[in-house]
Amino acid sequence: MPTYKPYFPQIVDPDGVDASAAPRPMPTTTDMSREKTSQATGGEPLTEFSGTSNPYIDYQSIDLLLSLQHPRSDGYDEMCFFVMGQVKELLFRGLHFELANAQVQLRKDEVENALVILARAKAMVEYITRSWDVLSTITPEGFNQFRDNLGTASGQLSFMYRHVEFILGNKSRKLAHAHRNVPHVWPGIEKALNSPSLYDDAVALLARNGHAIDERALDRDWAEDYAENDSVKTAWLGIYRQPDAGNLLYRLGEALIGIDEHMSIYRWRHFISVHRIIGYKPGTGGSAGVGWLEGVTSHRFFPELWAIRTLF
Ligand code: HEM
Repeated sequence: MPTYKPYFPQIVDPDGVDASAAPRPMPTTTDMSREKTSQATGGEPLTEFSGTSNPYIDYQSIDLLLSLQHPRSDGYDEMCFFVMGQVKELLFRGLHFELANAQVQLRKDEVENALVILARAKAMVEYITRSWDVLSTITPEGFNQFRDNLGTASGQLSFMYRHVEFILGNKSRKLAHAHRNVPHVWPGIEKALNSPSLYDDAVALLARNGHAIDERALDRDWAEDYAENDSVKTAWLGIYRQPDAGNLLYRLGEALIGIDEHMSIYRWRHFISVHRIIGYKPGTGGSAGVGWLEGVTSHRFFPELWAIRTLF
């Protein structure tokens, strides 16, 4: 257990921060204006600004972002937990953006564009997975020093993570339900629950490309979790019989399974890290804890892409 106590260097005076979530007004520049500025400064960086902010701070509201780290205990490890939790929320936001845009491109039959986007999405999942390297440095005793302060807060209440699960097709009315009382979050979750996932759009793309896909896979209650479908399996099997670079649907299948593989690794690392930190204690969110997390490690988003591996 860290017996030493944390020292929190003061970085920002929160009283001076504009807490609005709106983008702050700021001037734009051009190649020409940048050239002129660089000539005027003799090639040295700008260091004089008027007002009470600077353009770097304003572009991303950095002072606001860096005012939001306020651990609730004097347990040393809480700052690490707090920052990593926020970093992961941001990364899930970025991942969801890529997945949503890949979906838009698939709907337009722009498979090559979707492939470029999915390559980044996969890189992001791998990157997020590495967050467990840092989190698993938290010791059982270190975690105990701040765990009570979490109350019933739990990652399972992360609406950003739920968006990622839903866009990949792992729908759950029950887990969506947890956000019903949050008026600025619920409409987005409800919409995601009831909308086709990225994979539903990939399946529709297969149908548009002449594969015989069951009506049940093309028009269904989107809030239901995706269930393996024989016609989709047959379609992917046919596509995988031509595994060449020019076969865009084959490359799409590989891009999707790469994301599924790394999301599975993410879940696995969560489960193992949690096992290491809290053993078999119950979770803060009401679940049995590590046993519940172990259960979700077996989930696969795109079952047919896994099933066909056995058939080669
Ligand atoms: C390092 C300490 C951590 C521990 C001990 C831990 C423990 C747990 C446990 C026990 C659960 C099961 C639900 C429950 O709480 O009853 C859970 C779920 C979850 N946790 Fe963590 N967690 C940790 C860190 C994180 C972090 C930093 C995040 C990222 C924001 C996170 C995200 C999640 C998510 C998204 C779920 C739901 C999983 C799903 O729906 O499949 N956890 N966690």
